[in-house]
Amino acid sequence: MSKIPNLLIFITLIKLTDFSHRRYAKYNAYYLFEERKGRRFIEIINEASAKDENKLQQAEWNYATNLTDENLHKKLAVVAEIAERTKRRWTKLMRIRWNTFWDIDLKRQFKLYSVLGVFALPRPCLARYNEIVGRMEKIYSTNTICDYQDNTKCNLTLENEIAEILKSSRNEPELKHVWLSWRNGIGPRVKNLYTEYVHLCNKAAHLNNFDNNAEMWLDRYEDSNIKAKFMVLWNDIKPLYLQIHAYTRFHLKQIYGDVVDEQGAIPAHLLGNMWAQSWENIATDFLPYPDRTMTDITIKLIEQKYTPLKMFKTAEEFFVSINMSAMPPLFWNNSIIEKPCDRDIICHGSAWDFANGKDFRIKMCTRVTEENFFVIHHEMGHIEYYIQYKDQPFPFRSGANPGFHEAIGDLITLSVKSPCHLPKLNMSSNGFGDPEGFMNNLFMLGMTKIVLLPFAYIVDLWRWEIFAGKITPDNYNRRWWELRREFQGVAPPVARSECDFDPVSKYHVAADTPYIRYFVSFVIQFQFHKAICEAAGQYRKGDPNKELYMCDVYQKPAAGNLLKKMLQMGASRPWPDAMEVLTGQKEMDASALMEFFRPLYVWLERRNRENCVFVGW
Ligand code: SER
Ligand code: ZN
Repeated sequence: MSKIPNLLIFITLIKLTDFSHRRYAKYNAYYLFEERKGRRFIEIINEASAKDENKLQQAEWNYATNLTDENLHKKLAVVAEIAERTKRRWTKLMRIRWNTFWDIDLKRQFKLYSVLGVFALPRPCLARYNEIVGRMEKIYSTNTICDYQDNTKCNLTLENEIAEILKSSRNEPELKHVWLSWRNGIGPRVKNLYTEYVHLCNKAAHLNNFDNNAEMWLDRYEDSNIKAKFMVLWNDIKPLYLQIHAYTRFHLKQIYGDVVDEQGAIPAHLLGNMWAQSWENIATDFLPYPDRTMTDITIKLIEQKYTPLKMFKTAEEFFVSINMSAMPPLFWNNSIIEKPCDRDIICHGSAWDFANGKDFRIKMCTRVTEENFFVIHHEMGHIEYYIQYKDQPFPFRSGANPGFHEAIGDLITLSVKSPCHLPKLNMSSNGFGDPEGFMNNLFMLGMTKIVLLPFAYIVDLWRWEIFAGKITPDNYNRRWWELRREFQGVAPPVARSECDFDPVSKYHVAADTPYIRYFVSFVIQFQFHKAICEAAGQYRKGDPNKELYMCDVYQKPAAGNLLKKMLQMGASRPWPDAMEVLTGQKEMDASALMEFFRPLYVWLERRNRENCVFVGW
């Protein structure tokens, strides 16, 4: 303990206080002035950025809806012009000392602007990067394959014939042909472009002070520990996936015999989907209760003379019934909901925000099928989010994190697919409403919702490793199949090599779109579902008549009102705050998902035990 005379301390204190008070006042005046300057600056920059965003979206839309070289070059010119302006604004912005702002809203806007992203690239690199992505998207979107029987018929497209074959064919050589041809048409043509793309992405990341592009992508989650959290979530869900996998493999063995190893990974071409990311197309082959056949919604849609437009209107009506927005007039004028026959377009469904508060669009090559019916709800969920946060300052007009954006439409489909809703659409079959019908329904859902999770996880595990330099181009494909086997328990139907490049047979890889957002979405949508169902009085823990998987929030404005509170926040707060507004908890958490699927989990475990099925691979 030091002994300092009291008086001395007293005098020193007065002096110090006096001095620091004056200094503090000066300091304060300086920062308040800086903050006022910042506020004025942000208003200008927000307006200019929204205008530029509108121009950029127009150019991207023009290319995506007409894949010509001319449109690609026009897009590149617009990108170059906007990148220059954005960089100039960024330089000014970084001169302002926003880190010390008191107003957390203002500070957050600056913080969001402070990451330039790919615009940080020097002009020729940025042009090359956009050209590469544009070319990869085109190669993917214009890929066609030949018919298995008739090799002169070579115009089979992914959305039409190929999807149909994968759904309905049980002819193993035909499935193998389709699986291989699709990959042969893309991988080898894209491999070199992809390698160059990786290099440019990392260059951009370095210019933004990130170690590599994986770090830049994950920055949107605002949590340095986020990768570990994804892993925890996956480990929580894995036991349920293992049961679905084992049950499916057991039944596939009965259909395909020797092609399937009863203890090994499942051949990836037998699962009813090009990427084995959703298995619902084969689920009706081995429903838990086969006598209680499931409604074929596609047939019901056709019987009831649904058109793409009527499907859109039906989805819209659901949102309106919970007090959310109708699609605005420009949406109906500008959206493309059917494939035009006079040009190539990117058919992969997407929802667009033209950043002016009025112009929102969906682009989709809709066909009258069950899958498309739910994709429409998914895309419309994005539009609802855009509409709800349209009055936020420009940098906040975004999802709380990318997974939130993907979850909104899916959240609504959880109600639409519930056993209580389908009868309201005249889309249920007899026996649907009993416990066996419920189990079938839950199984169908598990075959999409649970099955996507390991796939969504590895698409980005693989890319994170690439961006971090852990995998080099001579190992791209080998590592891809290692991860496919390890997490999904699927294997390629024929030996693969580095002449093949299978990951780009998936749209989001070719199109430079991160994919972990779907993993996040497929977990949190169940947390959201639980919250809105509770608000709507449709779910009560422990009540056997109000279980989570039965809940339908149709015509329950209380559900929509609660959801809107979160959507209106946009990205104005870190995502745990948005999560809290809706669910009362701040964490991503698999327990709602596990509760939803609990009856299925118990059923599968018992059935697999009874059948002495090997679990795992
Ligand atoms: N929309 C995502 C995809 O198409 C996830 O379902 O892969
Ligand atoms: Zn989406």
